[in-house]
Amino acid sequence: MPTAAHIAYRESRGGDPQTGAPPLVFIHGAGGSSLHWPPQLRRLPSLDVYALDLPGHGDSPGNSSTTIEEMAEAVLAWQEALALGPCVYAGHSMGGAIAQTLALDHPEAVAGLILVGTGGRLRVHPDILAMTASKDKYDQGVDTMLAWSFSQNADKGMVELAGKRFLQVPASVVHADFLACDGFDVLPRLGEIHCPTLVLCGSEDQLTPLKYSQFLVDQIPEATLVIIDGAGHMVMLERPQAVSAPILDFINALS
Ligand code: COA
Repeated sequence: MPTAAHIAYRESRGGDPQTGAPPLVFIHGAGGSSLHWPPQLRRLPSLDVYALDLPGHGDSPGNSSTTIEEMAEAVLAWQEALALGPCVYAGHSMGGAIAQTLALDHPEAVAGLILVGTGGRLRVHPDILAMTASKDKYDQGVDTMLAWSFSQNADKGMVELAGKRFLQVPASVVHADFLACDGFDVLPRLGEIHCPTLVLCGSEDQLTPLKYSQFLVDQIPEATLVIIDGAGHMVMLERPQAVSAPILDFINALS
């Protein structure tokens, strides 16, 4: 995988200069990697698509951070290293917090936001923080996170694979991610986001309930909501086609 500014990334360069669509950049959530975005999303036709491994995750070197602001600065440094113009940032859960922070603090770098299973405040359940802090309880923590991450309808093989991938990420990285989420709160600033915004949420999301997405849409002036019926927090893994269709419509409407 190529790396720029300490961030490894997967890319699919199908961008059509005729349409002038901005690059689409996927940012994963806590304990994740670029593989949290399925191929149907990483290879959208007619677009330049990038899926990042945040520092300390996947193939990226370095340490994870305990603040969303630091993560957003790392992503901005990556965008500048590739000399990309304004990007559409699609963030899942913690990645959505990073995307909102970029739009608030560096609006010139952001052409649009796609906020998937996330919110403007991401308090983390104390049980999750405790389980990811303890080596002995980490396996149990992964089981709990999986149970809360997928809907009842999710394919069992997919859930098993997600569990294996979770166990490959050092517990210290996952814990740092959840600390960063727990400290994130931009609810009072959401009205300052002035770029087109698509909000996507599974109706069965238990980690960032639909209420959070509804709040985003109520507060962000240019936001629209798409609810994916029956899907849980890992909505993009559970229902890739249902997620890719509104994303393509959203980006086509921008260019
Ligand atoms: N958007 C809109 N409203 C939000 C919000 C968001 N992003 N985050 C919190 N709120 C609301 C809550 O619904 C609640 O409203 P209510 O008083 O009308 O019920 C209020 O703000 C306070 O909620 P919260 O900040 O979450 O504090 P809490 O002490 O009530 O609950 C937790 C703390 C950790 C138990 C709870 O947030 C939780 O269960 N979290 C979900 C599980 C989790 O760990 N998710 C991980 C996210 S990465």
